[in-house]
Amino acid sequence: LPILILWAVIGYGFGSIPFGLLLTKAMGLGNLREIGSGNIGTTNVLRTGSKAAAALTLLLDGGKGAAAVLLARFLAGEDTAQLAGLAAFIGHCFPIWLKFKGGKGVATFLGLILALAWPVGIACCATWLVAAAISRISSLGALISAASSAVWAFLLGFSSLMSLAIILALMVFLRHKENIARLSDGTEPRIGQK
Ligand code: G3P
Repeated sequence: LPILILWAVIGYGFGSIPFGLLLTKAMGLGNLREIGSGNIGTTNVLRTGSKAAAALTLLLDGGKGAAAVLLARFLAGEDTAQLAGLAAFIGHCFPIWLKFKGGKGVATFLGLILALAWPVGIACCATWLVAAAISRISSLGALISAASSAVWAFLLGFSSLMSLAIILALMVFLRHKENIARLSDGTEPRIGQK
């Protein structure tokens, strides 16, 4: 058990690094909290106007989820890898450094799923891309992608991933409460809109 707690803490530590916030600060792009949704993730970084910062945020927020999984898998095995991935996701959503007010977990979710089972990860990324391309709404892509992840895990033969996928999807939905309200109002901004 102490080993599992250690991996939960390590995963949380990885996940809690708010790359979007750090990058936009370092690049002088203004205060992310006062832009768009105020969120620390890729979609809101894009609203600063910097595609480079948004791409880097996506890569690093996804990368920290993948890194937590890969490190735990390498040193402690597959079950621990799932735990570390979940912990990284929780770290992104509730980072101690930001008084637990973190992001919505989409990039970290995609990164950790890619590292746990790359076919499921690719399917989730593709689902996000297709849904976001059709709707032009990032949050809608995220919700559909998260909701589909357990289905993909089942269809692609990774049923050991299904319970984690369901937990992650529930958390992604909870983190998107405001987005869901805007989606049902029809006021959720489209990609490229301020
Ligand atoms: O990754 C978060 C995305 O789904 C929504 O972000 O800034 O539009 O709330 P935002």
